[in-house]
Amino acid sequence: MDPKFSAILLAAGRGSRMKSQRPKVLHEILGVPMIEVITGSVREAGAADLIVVLGHGADEVRGCLGDSSIRIAIQQQQLGTADALLAALRQQPPACAQVLVVNGDLPDLDPTLLASFVADHGKSSSAFSVATARVADPTGMGRIVRDQTGDFISIVEEEQASDTERAIDEVNLGLYVLDAEMVTPVLDEMVAGDLSGKETAGESYLTRLVEVLVQRSMVVDAIGVGVDHQFLQVNDRVGLARVSRIIQDRLQQRFLEQGVTIVDPTTTWVEFGVSIGEDTVIHPQTIIRRGVRVGTCCEIGPFAHLRGGTVIGDDVKVGDFVEINRSELADGVRAKHLAYLGDTKVESGANIGAGAVVANYDGVKKSPTTIGENAFIGSGSVIVAPGNIGAGAVVAAGAVVPPGRDVHPGTTVLGVPARERKSQQDLADDVRDDEREIR
Ligand code: UD1
Ligand code: MG
Repeated sequence: MDPKFSAILLAAGRGSRMKSQRPKVLHEILGVPMIEVITGSVREAGAADLIVVLGHGADEVRGCLGDSSIRIAIQQQQLGTADALLAALRQQPPACAQVLVVNGDLPDLDPTLLASFVADHGKSSSAFSVATARVADPTGMGRIVRDQTGDFISIVEEEQASDTERAIDEVNLGLYVLDAEMVTPVLDEMVAGDLSGKETAGESYLTRLVEVLVQRSMVVDAIGVGVDHQFLQVNDRVGLARVSRIIQDRLQQRFLEQGVTIVDPTTTWVEFGVSIGEDTVIHPQTIIRRGVRVGTCCEIGPFAHLRGGTVIGDDVKVGDFVEINRSELADGVRAKHLAYLGDTKVESGANIGAGAVVANYDGVKKSPTTIGENAFIGSGSVIVAPGNIGAGAVVAAGAVVPPGRDVHPGTTVLGVPARERKSQQDLADDVRDDEREIR
């Protein structure tokens, strides 16, 4: 069997249970839109070719798909999961015979598990395989129905299930592998029939495909994928919060194993794509946003907020109520209390005093600031961007450095607006000049 496979992601649904203006797949998990998380896992599992079915909010979702190799199919009306799959098969024929189908609300997918599910399907002669698991709480999931001999014969959705069927704890996880050539004509016919009938409430369910294939004596398979919990699907905000927490715990576990101290994992939140070096200590109530990089032996927090585009070197201290946005802090920088640094490059050894602010936004545009090596930025000072504070310079407490003003290396500025402090000799010269004028 060809080990290669295509993948189709079903993401056209309204997601009405989210109660949101935003399409469900754009809700974020640890700072990344759900659709990006899922397409990432599917790619990692080895999909040769990826098709996403969009419908509700299609333009908005399309704009957020970073990967330009993803092909898009459009489901004009949300007429159910079978209709969505058919839209993909018709509009964007998959490159490979084997097709992995993934519901677009399963952000906690293990790529290894996906790959072995596809491989298991490949070993069988099945036209359509469904990934299943036995779970403690099957509520809301399609149940796997087997006949007396244990053969898989259908999936029953919760609303249609009898009491006996509801008691079944083996569920449909929302992952399928199919043989496109065998299944497409049957699916085509089933969807046409379902949508013309009145009893289907205007939807055609992909889960019904099992009984339709069985009726035609085609082989279907329910493959237990060896998880003892149900994949948390995001049907609503409760699902979103739960699955985010589960992924967060796993991600933090990895940092702990890599030699990062997280003093209180429950009040720390780290988004996807973050790197943190060994012996760095993260104090409670700290938030580290997507893609931030933190070096070794740093102390971050408590109550620190490191935002996107931030890179922190080694041995840096970022203390309480410090927000750092799109900024670089080189080795040994200190910003220990109540500061804001936006679009700022802080060179090594510089000290950012309590309450210092780099005002990077003038109401229209954002501008950059550089703070040189070993510079000292006094408490309560404001540097209005664009700013350039030379190496070893001092901005006195309370000073306001106007936009575009260069503070020369080794000098001290003070006051509002900040002016360079003169040397004793300069001051003496000024007095002499004044006296001359009086005479
Ligand atoms: C579905 C399964 C259920 C399974 C569960 C696992 C069906 C009928 N039921 O239920 O057996 O246990 O997933 O998570 O498939 N979508 C479209 N177009 C549509 C409708 C849905 O693209 O017209 C997409 C949605 O965007 C979503 C996915 O299909 O990503 C699944 O839809 P959802 O409404 O979440 O199905 P469930 O009720 O969770
Ligand atoms: Mg769902």
